[in-house]
Amino acid sequence: MDTHSPSPEAPPSATIGLAPPRLDLSALPPRMQRELRASHVGETVAVALYDGVAGATTDPEVLRFAASHRRVEKRHLRLFEAVLPPDKRSAPMAFWRWSGRMMGGLPAWLGPSYFYAVVAGVEAWVDGHYARQIALARKLAPDPALLNLLEACRLDERLHARDAARLDPAPLWAARALAGLAVFLSRVGVRAARWV
Ligand SMILES: [Fe+2]
Repeated sequence: MDTHSPSPEAPPSATIGLAPPRLDLSALPPRMQRELRASHVGETVAVALYDGVAGATTDPEVLRFAASHRRVEKRHLRLFEAVLPPDKRSAPMAFWRWSGRMMGGLPAWLGPSYFYAVVAGVEAWVDGHYARQIALARKLAPDPALLNLLEACRLDERLHARDAARLDPAPLWAARALAGLAVFLSRVGVRAARWV
């Protein structure tokens, strides 16, 4: 998988130039369709998370981090939008976007340690979420283009987690607690998004 060299403005990304897979969604097992719906919600929340940072902090490093990672999450979202037509997406999109803004805005407002801890925790969890989806897709829908999309997104999320952990390798205990709560809510959200 080709990745690009890191820079502050353009983080390395496995999804640069990636074309969306041409999938016959109705031919996929319902379980896989639900998984893709959950990932579309996850990417929507990710973009909103970074949107939520803008009005919540004036810390230049946090703002730069959020802006550069938002570009990658927006690319992920466009890829999933190309796969999933509107009638197959989760219904309460306004709620998901609000949740994402809270998940980014609150920790950014509390301070950089909180923000980086939440991003590191959530993105590491999303890395595992994609790994589980890849294992499932190999069994249920081993389409090479779909596997490639999931793997490229997984690599990007892993890089985001590492970027955040590098910026604050020893977060405050309260920041770790908030990150734990954000991971718990992400887990609940993904489960809900498979069905609503
Ligand atoms: Fe993403």
